[in-house]
Amino acid sequence: MSSSYRHILVTGGAGFIGSHLVRMLLARPVARVTNVDKLTYAGNPANLADIAGDPRYHFVHLDIADLRLRAVLRENPPDAIINVAAETHVDRAIADPLVFARTDVLGTQNLLECAREIGVRRFVQVSTDEVYGSISEGAATEDSPLQPGNPYSASKAGGDLLCLSYANTYGLAVSVCRGANTYGPHQYPEKFIPLAITNLLTGQPVPLYGDGRQRRDWLYVLDHCAGILTVLEKGVPGEVYNIAAEQERENREILARLLALLDAPDEAVRRVTDRPGHDRRYAMDADKLRALGWSPKKPVEVGLAETVDWYRQHSKWWQSIRQGDAFIAYYARQYPMLPPLA
Ligand SMILES: NC(=O)c1ccc[n+]([C@@H]2O[C@H](COP(=O)([O-])OP(=O)(O)OC[C@H]3O[C@@H](n4cnc5c(N)ncnc54)[C@H](O)[C@@H]3O)[C@@H](O)[C@H]2O)c1
Repeated sequence: MSSSYRHILVTGGAGFIGSHLVRMLLARPVARVTNVDKLTYAGNPANLADIAGDPRYHFVHLDIADLRLRAVLRENPPDAIINVAAETHVDRAIADPLVFARTDVLGTQNLLECAREIGVRRFVQVSTDEVYGSISEGAATEDSPLQPGNPYSASKAGGDLLCLSYANTYGLAVSVCRGANTYGPHQYPEKFIPLAITNLLTGQPVPLYGDGRQRRDWLYVLDHCAGILTVLEKGVPGEVYNIAAEQERENREILARLLALLDAPDEAVRRVTDRPGHDRRYAMDADKLRALGWSPKKPVEVGLAETVDWYRQHSKWWQSIRQGDAFIAYYARQYPMLPPLA
């Protein structure tokens, strides 16, 4: 797909999804990609080491909630903005919710204000299926009510609503995309799948919340990014698009698959107390995005095998995170019932 935008600003480009998106954009004939990232615990410049020397790539170390963002954008105005930056981990949101509202709500609004001032042609807000809350039957469509069940999803819902209000009030060309649970290479190793893989690779038990029957709709990271870029190019301003592969699996099924791929025994899984307010099931209908020509390419079993291979081959990447004091302290706080990492 060619790009009709010359200069694209991506926020959160040093994180998991953002780094794949930056790489995908640079594979196109764009003139410039600017990455604004605060480099929180989840932001890692090593995720972009392969493209760091591309003269079209520019990195700005800044918080999206920082008012100095305006001057940065004024100096070198992008014609499109993709807002990927967010605090993203539900467990962290339960432990420390304030930063979620700051980044996911206020940061989004600061970016919207910048976009309005410089007059961007396009703004895409990257959001999540979690804003619909737990879905007991069927699948959420873009018109389903928002019923976020934790401070992460509530903050993301706040960001979405601000975006849609800027489309309605100021005519800003904003679209919102809501992605399903995403997995793949470069995902920070405290999230469910990479935590399981890296624990199994280091002989540690793998925590499983509650009965493990929570259902999630798994989306490979490159399918997610292709969906975001479809919304950038073909989405209608003011509209929302679900990005889902419609591949629901229970958490315990995902773990069983990982055990098989890593030749680990069932005893490696440890049931731990469930997360408070844990949503049972997420499910979305993605027909609206499919109608724009997007479709997911990666079956979840294939994607999981490839992800395991990537973590096997990139132990330096995740060991340097897991061996850091911050990760070890986080792990001890989150899983006091498991052996500490160090
Ligand atoms: N991972 C998933 O399963 C998933 C699913 C659906 C939607 N999403 C959404 O996709 C986006 C990216 O998720 P991810 O999993 O790649 O996240 P991540 O946690 O791996 O990365 C987040 C990135 O944002 C940066 N960041 C955080 N706060 C910032 C701030 N205030 N200013 C500037 N940069 C900041 C971090 O440094 C990091 O580089 C988020 O908006 C998330 O809500 C994620």
